[in-house]
Amino acid sequence: MQTLNYIAGRWQAAQDGRQFEVRNPADDSLITLAADGGAADARLAADAAAVALPAWKARSPRDRCLILKKWQALIERDVEPLAELISREQGKPLAESRGEIAYSAGYVEWFAEEGVRAHGEIIAAPVSSKRYLVLREAVGVVAVVTPWNFPAAMIARKIAPALAAGCTVVAKPAEDTPLTSLALVKLAEEAGVPAGVLNIVPASRDRTPEVVGEWLRDGRVRKVSFTGSTAVGKILARESAGTVKKLSLELGGNAPFIVFEDADLDAAVEGLMAAKFRNGGQTCVSPNRVFAHESVHDRFVDKLAARVGALRVGPASWAEAEIGPMINGRAVDKIERHVNDAVAKGAKAVVGGSRVRTDVANGPNYYAPTVLTGATPDMELSCEETFGPVVPIFRFSTEEEVIAQANDTPFGLAGYFFSNNIKRVWRVASALETGLVGINEGAIAAQAAPFGGVKESGYGREGSHWGLDEYLHTKYLCQGNLT
Ligand code: SIN
Repeated sequence: MQTLNYIAGRWQAAQDGRQFEVRNPADDSLITLAADGGAADARLAADAAAVALPAWKARSPRDRCLILKKWQALIERDVEPLAELISREQGKPLAESRGEIAYSAGYVEWFAEEGVRAHGEIIAAPVSSKRYLVLREAVGVVAVVTPWNFPAAMIARKIAPALAAGCTVVAKPAEDTPLTSLALVKLAEEAGVPAGVLNIVPASRDRTPEVVGEWLRDGRVRKVSFTGSTAVGKILARESAGTVKKLSLELGGNAPFIVFEDADLDAAVEGLMAAKFRNGGQTCVSPNRVFAHESVHDRFVDKLAARVGALRVGPASWAEAEIGPMINGRAVDKIERHVNDAVAKGAKAVVGGSRVRTDVANGPNYYAPTVLTGATPDMELSCEETFGPVVPIFRFSTEEEVIAQANDTPFGLAGYFFSNNIKRVWRVASALETGLVGINEGAIAAQAAPFGGVKESGYGREGSHWGLDEYLHTKYLCQGNLT
């Protein structure tokens, strides 16, 4: 198990020797201590990335592709130990962790193959004495800051395109889940990523601002890619303005999920189960507000309640677990606050509605999968992401009304709707103010598709060829006096 900083090709303790605890959310037991990086470590990492940049940028895209393909193969070789590590530090059921490793390897493969297609352009010049050419060049040193909900996939989705584009990287994994990220970096080292090209500095919650702040002030760091809360994204945007860095911000959401009167209700229930209960609802694109048309509301709720009530809650070590523990005590407190507020304002818990503690789910961080009816816009869960296994259901009567409600949020990451009316499908898909739209589908994220939001859910895209663009500059060359 890797627990140290990886800087300039060396695994090393924090400069001042500090460490922090990594705990298993299933029972809060200590897994290990990890190096607690600080400003000095962050500086060393940026130094190493700056030194390694010219040679890595100069390597051919094909060379970089082959190294990334090797990294992919090693990740695929180690599915089992990596999945076990995710489940241990993050809590998700083992089957989901295996899926996350496959998803991560898929991003490495995708960007290995996209990197060799980062073509420029030749533009027809208006006069024959000139040639206009456009090159795509690596932006430089990139700082990558990742969340705890997908500790492997978010590292892969940011680091693979950065490396494919010819950038070097300094990374700070989430404080709750540094071990998976460190294990992936170890495999990158084994794949032949040269010293200094990829550096990682884990840090505790207290020291994270020190590490990231160092990179934000460093003029050599030319880009920051962050996935996390909108509140932190705003701080990063403000603080990176001093050196005018390129930014990709994948921030919070408040996804609507609309079930129209012409929907296939069984498909809608299955779509909602897939979208909502992945990772116990701790996913940025999880539906946060479910709107059911009044004419199908009761039938939809009955079908959904039957599915949600049957979900098995327990630790990843229990083979039957479908919903694991939440990441930590703060997460469960927030879920509890949202549900209690909703119930106090008139919502009814038709399934769940409280914490769980059973012989199997025997820890402080479990919350019962919950369906609430009678949700209204004045409830906290309507305005703020709950990030847990809670489905609040709002009733609506017209398309206009539900679109207005769906868009009545500063966030705009994902939106979903179920309808079998083709005219409505196009109307609603264009009316939703979100970066991603699931139409009769709950599982929407994919390597080949652009992932990212609008409004306060951020900007920049991950995955697809747009995901590579985020790590490239456009350089225009004008050659004259040709005739
Ligand atoms: C996220 O929650 O930020 C990522 C989810 C995904 O890739 O589907």
